Amino acid sequence: MQDFLTWLAPVWRPHPGQLRFLLAQAKTRVLACGRRWGKTDACAVQVLSGFDSASEGRTLLVAPTIEQAGFLFRRLRRLIEQLISLDLWGLRFEADPKIKESKMELNVGPHSVVARSAHSGNHLRGDEASHIIVDEAAYVKADIVHEVLAPMMATFDGTLTMISTPNGHNHFYEAFQEGLQNTDEFWSLQAPSSDNPQVRAAFLERQRKLLSPSAFATEYEAQFVQREGYVFDRRAVQESILAEPNAEIPGPTIIGIDWARYEDYSALVVIRGFQRQASVLEIDRKHRVEWSQQIEWVKAILARHPGARIICDTTGVGDGITAWLRQQLAGVSIRPCVITSESKPRLIDGLVRAFEARALQIPQYEALIKELESFQATRSPSGHVQMAAKSGHDDLVLALAMAVSDLPQANRMILATNPR
Ligand SMILES: Nc1ncnc2c1ncn2[C@@H]1O[C@H](COP(=O)(O)OP(=O)(O)O)[C@@H](O)[C@H]1O
Ligand SMILES: [Mg+2]
Repeated sequence: MQDFLTWLAPVWRPHPGQLRFLLAQAKTRVLACGRRWGKTDACAVQVLSGFDSASEGRTLLVAPTIEQAGFLFRRLRRLIEQLISLDLWGLRFEADPKIKESKMELNVGPHSVVARSAHSGNHLRGDEASHIIVDEAAYVKADIVHEVLAPMMATFDGTLTMISTPNGHNHFYEAFQEGLQNTDEFWSLQAPSSDNPQVRAAFLERQRKLLSPSAFATEYEAQFVQREGYVFDRRAVQESILAEPNAEIPGPTIIGIDWARYEDYSALVVIRGFQRQASVLEIDRKHRVEWSQQIEWVKAILARHPGARIICDTTGVGDGITAWLRQQLAGVSIRPCVITSESKPRLIDGLVRAFEARALQIPQYEALIKELESFQATRSPSGHVQMAAKSGHDDLVLALAMAVSDLPQANRMILATNPR
């Protein structure tokens, strides 16, 4: 390996953590490291070093999506291209690389590399591999790792490399734990993003301010923070964030409002679409303002979304202000929503499912994202489920959940008039 790295040095040099990884010999290697630690780079180099061997080898690059697997594939391709352009390739390898970009396959002499998505095990069954690399492994389903990848490795007596940021105490955590036992079979390393000299301290500080403490600990310190009890899947929320709301989306416009009680915020979310696809168009909140001002606030927002209907919380103080709103907004449909300890879990569950089905798009509105990420369900000793945001507020989550609960199933008019 040292000799290989000396040859590679004009193009790439490992930082100390990456060197430890590249020198590890175990059959299963687990890298639990922060974002931008250099996991993907280190794996691309690991694959390249495998081309040194004279015996046949087949490397399978797997990730939760084909885009992510392609990312690792292209990193490898770029390394090869750099080596060729510096006339270094021929100094080490006799065979020229053959790259089939469209099929995400490449060959170097007796070695082949293919990139695949782990989304469905069917894409992978039947593939053979002497070395499997799983990028973002903590986000690949446990049964794909156990039922598809691990048997493949056993059959071909191969090696497995799993790299990822942690994702709670799941299968990736278990594999990581095995590596701490100091056996020859498993090797693991846990390291923060700051190990990569390319990652600036100022960038990390900005992220620390932007994310909740548990999200920062997970994503940049590579800690296996228990996500149990958290209601919203963080990855699903992250993947729902859109830079620009899609105002073109068809469907009715619904305004969800959670009125302020005591110290809370009054929260308002404007959404458009149907249950299978909806987009949040606007989010706003007001802290401790007079009821009369809140009415003006809703009127102003309604003016931007003519024809929108309203669903709002009529629990406690919400009852009075909703009655007042009705007087002020003649002709606007206003649906009451009573939030109790029984109805709240149902309401929240609808929102959880919308995120998990990727049926919802939300803007990059930090307060909402923080509320979603810290929203927890706890079970009291009596078995009662209590739901609330750990950070204190959950007004935006409730406003959104109410609006989502009011989305119609589908556009029956279109279905009815569509000839097919
Ligand atoms: N040893 C290294 N030398 C130079 N740049 C590196 C090195 N390791 C990683 N990088 C760069 O740092 C950034 C993050 O690396 P990447 O492998 O994408 O991280 P991760 O997969 O852990 O998120 C990339 O731009 C990558 O090219
Ligand atoms: Mg990566």
